[in-house]
Amino acid sequence: MIWYGGDYNPEQWPEEVWDEDVRLMQQGGITLVSLGIFSWAKLEPREGEFDFGWLDRIIDKLHAGGIRVDLATATASPPPWLTKAYPEVLPVTENGVTLQAGSRQQYCPSSPVLRRLEARLVGKIAERYAGHPALELWHVNNEYGCHVSHCYCPVSADAFRGWLKAKYETVDALNAAWGTAFWSQAYSDFAEIFPPSAAPTFRNPGQLLDFDRFSSDELLDSYRAEVAILRAATPDIPITTNFMGAFKPADYWKWAAEVDIVSDDSYPDPADPDSPAYAAMTRDLMRSLGGGKPWLLMEQAPSAVNWRARNAPKLPGQMRAWSYQALARGADGILFFQWRQSVAGAEKFHSGMIPHAGTDSRVWREVEAFGAELGTMSAFAGTSVVAKVGIVFDWDSWWSIEQQAMPAQLSYVRGIFAWYRALWALGVPVDFVRAESDLGGYSAVIAPNLFVTTAAALSNLDGFARGGGQLVVGYQSGITDENAHIVEGGYLGLLGQTLGIRVEEFAPFAGPDLAAAGGGSVPTGAIAGALTGDSDAHIWSEFLHAETAEVLATFVGGAADGWPAITRNAAGAGAAWYVATQPGEQGMAALLDRVLADAGVAREPQTAGVEMVRRGDRVIRINHGSKAVSVGGASIPPQGVSVSDA
Ligand code: GLA
Repeated sequence: MIWYGGDYNPEQWPEEVWDEDVRLMQQGGITLVSLGIFSWAKLEPREGEFDFGWLDRIIDKLHAGGIRVDLATATASPPPWLTKAYPEVLPVTENGVTLQAGSRQQYCPSSPVLRRLEARLVGKIAERYAGHPALELWHVNNEYGCHVSHCYCPVSADAFRGWLKAKYETVDALNAAWGTAFWSQAYSDFAEIFPPSAAPTFRNPGQLLDFDRFSSDELLDSYRAEVAILRAATPDIPITTNFMGAFKPADYWKWAAEVDIVSDDSYPDPADPDSPAYAAMTRDLMRSLGGGKPWLLMEQAPSAVNWRARNAPKLPGQMRAWSYQALARGADGILFFQWRQSVAGAEKFHSGMIPHAGTDSRVWREVEAFGAELGTMSAFAGTSVVAKVGIVFDWDSWWSIEQQAMPAQLSYVRGIFAWYRALWALGVPVDFVRAESDLGGYSAVIAPNLFVTTAAALSNLDGFARGGGQLVVGYQSGITDENAHIVEGGYLGLLGQTLGIRVEEFAPFAGPDLAAAGGGSVPTGAIAGALTGDSDAHIWSEFLHAETAEVLATFVGGAADGWPAITRNAAGAGAAWYVATQPGEQGMAALLDRVLADAGVAREPQTAGVEMVRRGDRVIRINHGSKAVSVGGASIPPQGVSVSDA
């Protein structure tokens, strides 16, 4: 079955509206609602005083109406009494500013006081609703780290020290790992260590990287504390917490191992022409995080959001088109934020399934029509998407490559997206993978900006190529080890041999595309060669030696004029490619043509502007363009979708 629904916040409405809500949910084909996400203040209006009456009544009504409940643990926004009584739970920014109540997520992720109060609340909720027949899924907290992912308060500092002690055991080991001989930073005791708050100039890279790891772990730990309570009460009810696509502060590989079902919140900008490809990337990431299992689109906007400078509505049909994209890429549920558009509060201009205009509106009509349509789509449920190409996604590299005092300011995700978008345009299915995971199912693996590597990752990638795979490594890979120490002697470590190259010196292109943090729409360089012909190039060049590798393209102009830009090295039964720039459209197309051919990845003819995905035994085509297109004799209107048997 494919779930359909959204965040439901009945506490924002008088109870008289609830019966109509349930009736309209039935009319709209709603099968699952997320309830209670921001209800702490209503469930526990004063410390230790609980009021579940209203929640009992609405859950019973939903159940009577045949609507299942994704019940939240309500910990996402501590109530004002809590932060008044225990101001030490308030988070502190790197500049030392204490964030106050009056918004949401105003807590330090490490706060023992908060964890104690959360545990009591979650315990009560779990105890009360464990046996409720409407309970389908637990929704822990909400969007961990969305607003406060790193906290610099004294409690966090202590927790960080504890985390470091567990990792390094001795302060000497920490000094070695962080390279504290530099700038007189050597510590003689763990007590001298603090989170990397604002400082006169560049902070210690090892300390920053460990603080990113710690901060992700700390949030995960607070998630775990809630999970333990829920698991004990309801061993058979699945548990999720909603992810946020490619989200820097949380290493979702670690997180995904601890959710029963991956769920995602997705808000692509309807005004951005890159949104279809970018959204596709995040959906593939969600499927990959769950090891290929179906995931849930937990939140999307029915139309506009209210948090951009200008909030474009979804075009007529676009909500359906993008929902199909999620389905096609492995989602087994489509949910929205939120059911009724608020009339008060900070999100009153965020679209809702029932907008301010009421049900006589195109948004509601689209919600209702799609609900009816989804009810007929159960054949998708539980089916999978098969990809032979993997792209390595690595949070350590993300955290490291975006630090300050680097060869250039790069955007990790834009670097990944450059490859993803090119494959997306070719209709080639992609999974995201870890450098250290089993790559046996893939024919080609691409590692863009894999800045941080471990010995295990290097030998895994080497083994993949030697075992017959096509390994493609992008610039700024293998630059440091896991302690943020440089890999000397041409970078890349073991991969230098796999690739048959040595990197001597970096030469990032000056110019606008670096300022745009890797956006790369304005070419700043050029390459030429037998493989690519003449092509523009973006962001990067370097002084690169091809030792055993063959040179397929070289830089034209710029500091590295005439030096290798793309190389290929035979490695065992496979090959290892190195790409020292971000090739422009033509260079990328030529390169991928050859890599995919060598990898034996089947390609299907594509229609420009039409996204084609295969899930299970269905082929889904989505027209993201503004004109009708005809595919195989059938016409697909703008924002239209066609589903056929494979
Ligand atoms: C997030 C939150 C929701 C809401 C939406 C608005 O996804 O989880 O509570 O704030 O953003 O886009």
